[in-house]
Amino acid sequence: MITLREILASRGKLVALTCYDYPTALSLDASTVDLVLVGDSVGTNVLGYRDVSEVTMDDMLHHARAVRRGLKRASLLVDLPFNSYQTGEAAILNGKRLIEAGADMIKLEGGMELVAKIRALRSENIRVVAHIGHTPQSHVGTRKVFGTTASEIESLLEVSKQLQLAGSEAVLLECVPERVATIISDRLDIPTIGIGSGSGCDGQIFVITDLLGWHHPNFRFSASFDDFRNRTVATANRFAHEVRDGVFPSATQVYKVKDSELQQALD
Ligand code: KIV
Ligand code: NA
Repeated sequence: MITLREILASRGKLVALTCYDYPTALSLDASTVDLVLVGDSVGTNVLGYRDVSEVTMDDMLHHARAVRRGLKRASLLVDLPFNSYQTGEAAILNGKRLIEAGADMIKLEGGMELVAKIRALRSENIRVVAHIGHTPQSHVGTRKVFGTTASEIESLLEVSKQLQLAGSEAVLLECVPERVATIISDRLDIPTIGIGSGSGCDGQIFVITDLLGWHHPNFRFSASFDDFRNRTVATANRFAHEVRDGVFPSATQVYKVKDSELQQALD
């Protein structure tokens, strides 16, 4: 087992992407990405749900298993979904189910209330990443920068320290102002993984469907590195044209039968 801290030490930066299915997992495993997250963003990004509160444990197990089948090299992190870890006991029960489905570690969102839950999970030897800052499960449908006031900044500094003490393997910082994220990263021994939190973090995580351009979100840190949505439309249209023009399937793409067999059957 290799820890995120060891990966960071050998690589200089941690690189993480979300992943929701087997073919994408095969591609990411063949890439140099260090960490793959089956995020609860599966709900909005691939299941067509309105928001993450609709995502169930069964959804997460289903997608975690699919991604696990595609990974040999990269580490696998899986989200505990909305309402699946209200208590330490629930966190352990559902955390174990994700581990059985193939997760190397699990991720929970929150603040100071995570400390006791992470201690409980660590006592069962479950590896944990804590997700702080903007936490979508508790702010459904909105995206809020967290850490702009002195009291929020103090809270982030204290919570991240306590989460490290409790045994969190890394801290994910979502939508935290860059200078605050950099200070947290400097103060912690465990890695920080940022999204929308600037370049001072020890690593970056990004949503695969945004990266590939399946969706074109318009928040500040959004970036499409490709345009899969339009490429899929164009490729589907190319197929449609070839079918309509009689170009596909071609003579080399069909199975043959002997004249004699065919004649015998028709006689
Ligand atoms: O589910 C998700 O996509 C996340 C992001 C922070 C990467 O948790
Ligand atoms: Na998530």
